[in-house]
Amino acid sequence: MCGIFAYLNFLHPQSRKKILQILVDGLRRLEYRGYDSAGIAVDGALDGERANRHIHLLKQRGKVQALNDLIDSCTDLDFSEELSAHVGIAHTRWATHGEPSPVNSHPHRSDDGNEFVVIHNGIITNFKVLKQFLQNKGYAFESETDTEVIPKLLKYIYDTTADEKLEFWQLVERAALQLEGAFALAVKSRRFPNDLVCTRRGSPLLVGIRSMDEVSSADRVPVLYSCDQQLGNERVQLGKVPGITTYAPDNERTPIEYFFASDPSAVIEHTNRVIYLEDDDIAAVRKGCLSIHRHKRIEEDENMVRSVHTLKMELQQIMKGNFEAFMQKEIFEQPESVVNTMRGRINFEEGTVTLGGLVSHLSEIRRSRRLIFIACGTSYHSAMATRQLLEELTELPVMLELASDFLDRSTPIFRDDVCFFVSQSGETADTLLALRYCKGRGALCVGITNTVGSSISRMTNCGVHINAGPEIGVASTKAYTSQFISLVLFALMMSEDRVSLQPRRRAIIEGLRVLPDLIKEVLKLDTSIKQLSAELLEEKSLLLMGRGFNFATCLEGALKVKEVAYMHSEGIMAGELKHGPLALVDSNMPVLMICVRDGTYTKCQNALQQVMARAGRPIVICQQDDEEITKLSVGRQLRVPPCVDCLTGILTVIPLQLLSFHLARARGYDVDCPRNLAKSVTVE
Ligand code: F6R
Repeated sequence: MCGIFAYLNFLHPQSRKKILQILVDGLRRLEYRGYDSAGIAVDGALDGERANRHIHLLKQRGKVQALNDLIDSCTDLDFSEELSAHVGIAHTRWATHGEPSPVNSHPHRSDDGNEFVVIHNGIITNFKVLKQFLQNKGYAFESETDTEVIPKLLKYIYDTTADEKLEFWQLVERAALQLEGAFALAVKSRRFPNDLVCTRRGSPLLVGIRSMDEVSSADRVPVLYSCDQQLGNERVQLGKVPGITTYAPDNERTPIEYFFASDPSAVIEHTNRVIYLEDDDIAAVRKGCLSIHRHKRIEEDENMVRSVHTLKMELQQIMKGNFEAFMQKEIFEQPESVVNTMRGRINFEEGTVTLGGLVSHLSEIRRSRRLIFIACGTSYHSAMATRQLLEELTELPVMLELASDFLDRSTPIFRDDVCFFVSQSGETADTLLALRYCKGRGALCVGITNTVGSSISRMTNCGVHINAGPEIGVASTKAYTSQFISLVLFALMMSEDRVSLQPRRRAIIEGLRVLPDLIKEVLKLDTSIKQLSAELLEEKSLLLMGRGFNFATCLEGALKVKEVAYMHSEGIMAGELKHGPLALVDSNMPVLMICVRDGTYTKCQNALQQVMARAGRPIVICQQDDEEITKLSVGRQLRVPPCVDCLTGILTVIPLQLLSFHLARARGYDVDCPRNLAKSVTVE
């Protein structure tokens, strides 16, 4: 739950000041992944005794700006010195082991002399055993983190294998083999000046490359298989003989720069050429050449390569623009993001839908026993919001599972199940574990993600990329509506051949065609929602009630209010009111109800009456032309344009996204970095 960034310049002189600036800017882009402390490691002055540079660590509690201030006030570094080759590593943290503090911040080190320093995203589940082992060997630990075992283990391996003269990447490989859990790591060492080694398992990591030579998307980095006899028979696979076949500029003396990062937003301002590393890849840069090493698994192709991808995102896509916060920008982007989700997939004239990633699996999905949607948080709500339509159009049983609960129950899964993993980041630990579980049981696994190259998109058999664009605000908004639409598209695609369903399909496709304009209309409610948030500012609680297509909207709205405005909020199924929750309703309890003209309209009106009979004066989200609501003496009304029933959840959730945003701002909170929440929940 952290962001890692490393910058290596080779034969490309940079002042230390510039290097520090690149590292800090990289961290700023990754701050959404964690922001309770930050740190960097760069080379300091030459150490006369050891004839190389000592490694300088700067770590600070707080956001990246606090680290930046610390760097500015540092008097031990010569900012103007030019370094023709250098490795810098940087980290922004979200605490899992040990409170936010400089000593718990990364980079962590092997010893007082900073021989090996490491940044880590993820969690080492067997750190206690390793720590005990290393303590028994005399290593003294200074932090409470799981990460600190890694540099100490590296030093231990280095010191105990001196006669083998292992290369840097081999040391990291040996250390990584001892680690359990999830990690993306970058390692810097004064023993291997100007070289860098990174690896990953379960946490994301990519390499950006910038060179004077054209880095083409046709470029490939061959994977080198190792056959290190020291690793024990179990892991030893005789693949290709290791050697240094690498990505390297044509002319070995060509300047080159590498950027290692948790996600592309941190590298896009430097280069759009990236390689996504796979689990257990060890990427090493030695003398400016990148090589990728791994142990060959039985099922792996001998001639595996890692391709250079071209990032399509523009820097401005990840900048805030004129908005106060990314969350606000992303809410207002929804008229375009939903178009991007549909782009090239719907033929409005012919009424057909094609999700390229699913085409070849469609008949298998149609023959399945049931569809199971597994996700967490907002992503789970998107599956819930579309469940009714999925059941209606696929005519298959549709189950919803919170990933954590699914795993707790060891749910039975069969080969003829189709399991969908819905995840904005594609990296959520619980969802990933559930994916491994279902894959192991032979189910077809489908990913619905917003992050190309993410673990879920790579581990599933097939999938849909929701194309919402980068979502930087921690609270998910535009990804929710794009997940929603992707699932609607899937339902439409599944029902293409069903004659009896054609009128329904046509109505939905027409609804999707006009949806972007309807969203624009809903966004015009912004001013009155801001006013409403001022009225609710001092309240302790907010109940959101609805049913049918809009029960999920209530859960999602309540989650948004909780996570960014830190106000208690609960989504209540209106049909359950009489079974308990009505006891909470009186003239003091703020209640918001969703009442739109769908199959549950009359029942929702009944719920409205029940609330009003207990002196409640609910705020109502209803439709523009609904005269019946006008006649009732309800409180404030937020009117959204009418649309086909199964898509109303998109129009009704946007006022709740805006409400949570304005409530949080009015309460003085940083909506993009809410407390105790990070964008990528990469721990269980
Ligand atoms: C809420 C929110 C979280 C995520 C959840 C799953 O705004 O963002 O509830 O939805 O942590 O994350 P993903 O979708 O990345 O799997």
